Amino acid sequence: MPKIAVYPGSFDPATYGHLDIIKRSLEIFDKVIVAVIRHPHKEPLFTLQERVKMLKVATKDLKNVKVDSFEGLLVNYVKSQKTNIIIRGLRAISDFEYELQMVLMNRRLNNSIETIFLMPEEHYSYLSSSLVKEIVFSGGKASKFVPPVVEEALHRKFSVDKSGRSW
Ligand code: PNS
Repeated sequence: MPKIAVYPGSFDPATYGHLDIIKRSLEIFDKVIVAVIRHPHKEPLFTLQERVKMLKVATKDLKNVKVDSFEGLLVNYVKSQKTNIIIRGLRAISDFEYELQMVLMNRRLNNSIETIFLMPEEHYSYLSSSLVKEIVFSGGKASKFVPPVVEEALHRKFSVDKSGRSW
């Protein structure tokens, strides 16, 4: 049986930090499913289709990666993929409380699901999708932080949408 892991998230947008976690996961698992959430309440900067498309382009050279989307409970999606493993990246102590809450809640929802945390390369430990959006929105370059497909999309998005909303 191949070992499959689900790496869920908003990926709004995907950064090199996310790609680092995907590559580390591939060292451990036979297949990694990157699962992009369709947020019912939050309005992301990028549509679900845009987030999925950018991840597909960014991971096109990686074998054994599938980019998918989901809605509803994560534990149900994980089960539907015939696995019980969730991967999450942990950057700093500040991530810990939220992540612990999710692990324990997911465990209450389905006791057979396990979450594995991977730490990204330390120079990605301060990187977040929100900061990248702020940088590009404020006129900066994000090429050190996101793959080219994402940087182009950010510049395109902000050149047509200078709405000034905050992330
Ligand atoms: O990248 P993010 O925004 O930190 O990812 C959060 C995500 C998508 C993993 C989380 O919001 C999630 O699992 N949502 C699905 C709904 C769900 O199952 N909620 C209960 C988990 S505590």
